[in-house]
Amino acid sequence: MSTTERASFTTKLGVIAATVGAAVGLGNIWRFPYTAGVNGGGAFLVVYLLCVLLVGLPLLLSELFLGRNTGQNPKGAFRKLSSNKKWQWVGVLCLISPTMVLGFYSVVAGWTAEYFLQSISGDLVGKNAEELGAIFTQFSQDPLRPIIWLFVFLGMTIAVSLGGVQKGIERVSNILMPVLFALLIILGIKSLTLDGAADGLKFLFYPDFSKVTAGVVLEALGQAFFSLSIGLGISITYASYFKKETNMPQTGVIISILDTGVALLAGIIIFPAVFTFGINPGQGPELVFITLPSVFNQMVAGQFWSTMFFLLLAVAALTSTISLSEVIVTFLVEEYKISRKKAVLALMAVCGVIGVISSLSLGAFSSYTFMGKNAFTLIEYVASNLLLPIAGFFIAIFVGWKMPKKVVHEELSTGGKFGAIMFNAYMFALRYIAPVGIIVVLLTQLGVI
Ligand code: PHE
Repeated sequence: MSTTERASFTTKLGVIAATVGAAVGLGNIWRFPYTAGVNGGGAFLVVYLLCVLLVGLPLLLSELFLGRNTGQNPKGAFRKLSSNKKWQWVGVLCLISPTMVLGFYSVVAGWTAEYFLQSISGDLVGKNAEELGAIFTQFSQDPLRPIIWLFVFLGMTIAVSLGGVQKGIERVSNILMPVLFALLIILGIKSLTLDGAADGLKFLFYPDFSKVTAGVVLEALGQAFFSLSIGLGISITYASYFKKETNMPQTGVIISILDTGVALLAGIIIFPAVFTFGINPGQGPELVFITLPSVFNQMVAGQFWSTMFFLLLAVAALTSTISLSEVIVTFLVEEYKISRKKAVLALMAVCGVIGVISSLSLGAFSSYTFMGKNAFTLIEYVASNLLLPIAGFFIAIFVGWKMPKKVVHEELSTGGKFGAIMFNAYMFALRYIAPVGIIVVLLTQLGVI
């Protein structure tokens, strides 16, 4: 997208497909189950759902407002709406965090590609959970293989970006994503027939509130931001391509419901299997890569399912990395007037370095830790749990307090009705619940409270 021609989405379905496509990704299928697992299951889920409803959805709507109202990238959006230059720093934050996310996200995206190949070659067939754990450890700690995949993934991302074939990829993904969804439902049904189904469901759905700590709430908040892609400027950028007829509240609600639905489905697949095969639910980032192959091994034609699944997951990851790189590149081109090619190369270099450090921190550099976290978990933590909520806090203040209520209401109701009760509920959440919630959680986590 160049500065001069800002395109727009043509159809209603196109809007939904693109925005849901950007929201659904590794965050739902890889990050949600392992974060829920580490943070105690049911209680985490309850807090997570509250975060989506009270903080995520209002902020999502606010980003949509900022994007469509201004038709700008995040920094331009703040510049257009406020004469106070300080607000543009929130826009700049929306450049830094996507870059950090793209760095470690591409590493995990690379893992999905590796597992696709291992599925085809049959290396995962017939292995028990312990052996699958060893396979993952060996792969992720390898100094070279994951890094090659990282660059393959980054390379594909920028090739799409530079080659201008993004539309084509998106069209393909619009077909493949429903297939992924169908596959998840089949896997969910399979998981529910496993011996550990009852224990797994209990772990996921039965809340033990004694497990709720400030850390758990922060993780749930971070996961909600990450999964809905908010606090990154993604929705601002996407909405800058919306037409006036787009029904904003409806779009926001559909994104939230589908995104949460996919995460829940992933949980319904993973946890019954975790309890059936004696896997530790608090395993961490490798959870999905050990659990799912265990499920596939129990299925008729498991190798086929496994190959399909990892292929689709890799495609889902690719559409997410494309959307991230698109936001960063558009931002650099529009704001700093550098050529698209230079922007892409800069992005490749910076994200490549972040990715390499993240990847090596699981193996060769694993002894280097900071606050008990290796570089991978630290980068993920700082981006998702700190930077995204901080950006979210300022967006809530800006749209909730600085913008005239009438302007926000008008913008959000051009394509459909946004009734007074719902609008007031939205405003209340945006003005009070979201900012106070975010600040309390952040300060508690940082030990200030
Ligand atoms: N929301 C995406 C996911 O759940 C992650 C993502 C964030 C993708 C930001 C694009 C931009 O995987």
